[in-house]
Amino acid sequence: MAFKSGFGRGMFEYSDVGIDLGTASVLVYVKGKGIVLREPSVVAIDRMSGRMVAIGDEARRMIGRTPGNIVAIRPLKDGVISNFDVTERMLRYFLRKVIGRRLFFKPRVVVCVPSGVTEVEKRSVIEASDEAGARKTYLIEEPIAAAIGAGIDIGTPYGSMVLDIGGGTADIAVISLGGAVVSESIKCAGDRFDEAIVRYIRKKHNLLIGDRTAEELKINIGTAYPRTEEVYMDVTGRNLISGLPRKVRVAGNEILEALEEPMQLVFEAVHNVLERTPPELSADISANGICMTGGGSLLYGLDRMLAEKTKVPCYVAEDAVSCVAIGTGKALEDLDSYTASAVRDYKRGEYFNL
Ligand SMILES: Nc1ncnc2c1ncn2[C@@H]1O[C@H](COP(=O)(O)OP(=O)(O)O)[C@@H](O)[C@H]1O
Ligand SMILES: [Mg+2]
Repeated sequence: MAFKSGFGRGMFEYSDVGIDLGTASVLVYVKGKGIVLREPSVVAIDRMSGRMVAIGDEARRMIGRTPGNIVAIRPLKDGVISNFDVTERMLRYFLRKVIGRRLFFKPRVVVCVPSGVTEVEKRSVIEASDEAGARKTYLIEEPIAAAIGAGIDIGTPYGSMVLDIGGGTADIAVISLGGAVVSESIKCAGDRFDEAIVRYIRKKHNLLIGDRTAEELKINIGTAYPRTEEVYMDVTGRNLISGLPRKVRVAGNEILEALEEPMQLVFEAVHNVLERTPPELSADISANGICMTGGGSLLYGLDRMLAEKTKVPCYVAEDAVSCVAIGTGKALEDLDSYTASAVRDYKRGEYFNL
């Protein structure tokens, strides 16, 4: 008995793995250890041979700086799997990195895929995970994982709203009794914010900057609510008139202006979901507030702006970037007690709920 609950169970517990296969980054959670891997979902490929040259951090550093024959791609960029083969190899690489090549105690794996992924693609993700060494693979819906990771008790008949803003998609869901009652996913999130900044800087300053510089502007001085104290950042790009490199000082409130359009789309989507929410659950949400997760939710002042627009309190979850990964991990810890739709085993058609 002592053996079973000590060594034996401990080994199994350690074996279970949760994966957040995000459009911007992949996070891997190992039971008993927490998040052990956090890398961008980027793969660098040699165009001539089709070989993968680098994955994750190393590949991200190559974006926009690769020689002609090497391309850095983000296979999940818009929340759909644009390049299945590459996604599969990336998933396998990360999984192997974490679990090694084990013969015994193969882990159970729960994967959270972007909401736009098709059923066929989901099946292939499961196959890739199984092939990489999972004993059994389950999928979990993103808003459910985000909610669990944010510490929301989703099994109660109490309505909670989660807004997850990632790189490729923003996902909104109202959850009650372990399932999404109303949900919506839009392809307007972090990447669109960056693109809007590139466009704005080009138009206003005649300066062409790269996506990564735009992202730095967004993270460092970006804002969704007018700043009372102005902040600045210097960026270098290519002047569109002279064709030469030039440095420009950008103010935080300029980014507010740049982000107006994509922000509006996010607010409208949240508004739509609120409109479709049954009144009893609406009452719960206005009491409890909208929980924001994902990297995009960290944009300065976004919680405040959203609260003002919706008249519902909003808050950014603790460790917002890791919520989905933590949620996959927690779901795993209680997997045995689940009974319906939150975690799905596609192969056997079994449904697990919380
Ligand atoms: N402090 C921040 N402010 C604004 N945006 C941020 C911040 N930190 C990260 N992001 C953005 O969050 C997005 C990635 O979020 P993430 O939840 O990791 O995405 P995904 O789940 O799609 O992989 C990127 O667009 C990134 O620029
Ligand atoms: Mg995510």
